[in-house]
Amino acid sequence: MAAGGIESKNKACVIGGAGFLASFLVKLLLQKGYSVNATVRDPDNQEKIAHLLALKSLGDLKIFRADLTEESSFDAPVSGCDLVFHVAAPVNFASKDPENDMIKPAIQGVTNVLRTCAKSGTVKRVVLTSSAAAVTINNDLSDTGLVMDEGNWSNVDFLYSAKPPTWGYPVSKTLAERAAWKIAEENNIDLITIIPSLISGPSLTPQIPSSGNLAMSLITGNEFLINGLKGMQMLSGSISITHVEDVCEAHIFLAEKKSASGRYICCAVNTSVLELATFLRERYLEEHRIPVDIGGLPSKAKLMISSDKLMKEGFKFKHGLEDIYDDTLAYFKAKGVLHQ
Ligand SMILES: NC(=O)c1ccc[n+]([C@@H]2O[C@H](COP(=O)([O-])OP(=O)(O)OC[C@H]3O[C@@H](n4cnc5c(N)ncnc54)[C@H](OP(=O)(O)O)[C@@H]3O)[C@@H](O)[C@H]2O)c1
Repeated sequence: MAAGGIESKNKACVIGGAGFLASFLVKLLLQKGYSVNATVRDPDNQEKIAHLLALKSLGDLKIFRADLTEESSFDAPVSGCDLVFHVAAPVNFASKDPENDMIKPAIQGVTNVLRTCAKSGTVKRVVLTSSAAAVTINNDLSDTGLVMDEGNWSNVDFLYSAKPPTWGYPVSKTLAERAAWKIAEENNIDLITIIPSLISGPSLTPQIPSSGNLAMSLITGNEFLINGLKGMQMLSGSISITHVEDVCEAHIFLAEKKSASGRYICCAVNTSVLELATFLRERYLEEHRIPVDIGGLPSKAKLMISSDKLMKEGFKFKHGLEDIYDDTLAYFKAKGVLHQ
């Protein structure tokens, strides 16, 4: 496989094209002139993929059936593509069996997708969507002021032994990314991994994405999700958040940038639950009741995750915290979840 991104706008495959991040990515790719092959698990479920079908009006979009657990299902969608964006991931935070629901299928998925790319003869670069959950989670967050970068990996032994809530997701993202690097090396695949923090902003999907609901929990007042946000700070050391448009632009930027190689963290804002609640109260207090009590959490984030490597390549974040929440709030209102 020849290294170095692509110069002309050709054909890209987006694995898991109906998801929150992936459908936004498909839209941007079509707007930038790419032809896109998008995969979904159930193309006959018109209701679930209606938002993807609607994007056909923007350009050359074809939809294929593929499942992460079936290697042969990627042959047709990857065929003739220059770029493959592997965005799909089995995400089930409520799973009672994370090993079989998330960890094994995620590893099988990267294996199947990368093997298909290696034998395609056309794919020049693969961009895999990893997660900050594969970087920051460690049993040794006793220090404050830590800066996490692409050299850090979440501690899988700690996650397997301590089993904190939602432990299966960070294990699946860490082991899947590690597997991807091994397969890429063995098969001479030009692989980039992008490591987004929590993603929020508007979504094309029929359902509000779970990450948007989590990000908005201090505004919607959903106690279960507020506890989830607190749990996120306790486990990963910070509340780190990025606008969906920036995450998608970073995917395309890294796919096209010749000099790019390795892992790239993509995070616009590092904060804590208390700082976020303070920011939201100051910005939206008149409209919404934002809780004051954040119950025993450190007021500041213990760490920040650094996007220096991405920015040194020339990427510029378009959206800060104000935009992220203004846009997500407007989206929630448009969905009828919050008052107009
Ligand atoms: N949202 C965030 O805050 C966030 C933060 C960091 C990283 N990420 C990563 O970003 C990626 C996209 O996340 P998202 O928030 O957009 O999630 P999402 O909306 O739940 O999308 C996940 C996609 O994965 C697909 N998928 C799941 N199991 C599959 C399988 N066995 N075979 C084929 N496809 C399968 C789903 O396909 P169907 O449509 O067929 O169900 C769905 O389209 C994931 O890799 C996630 O780990 C997300």
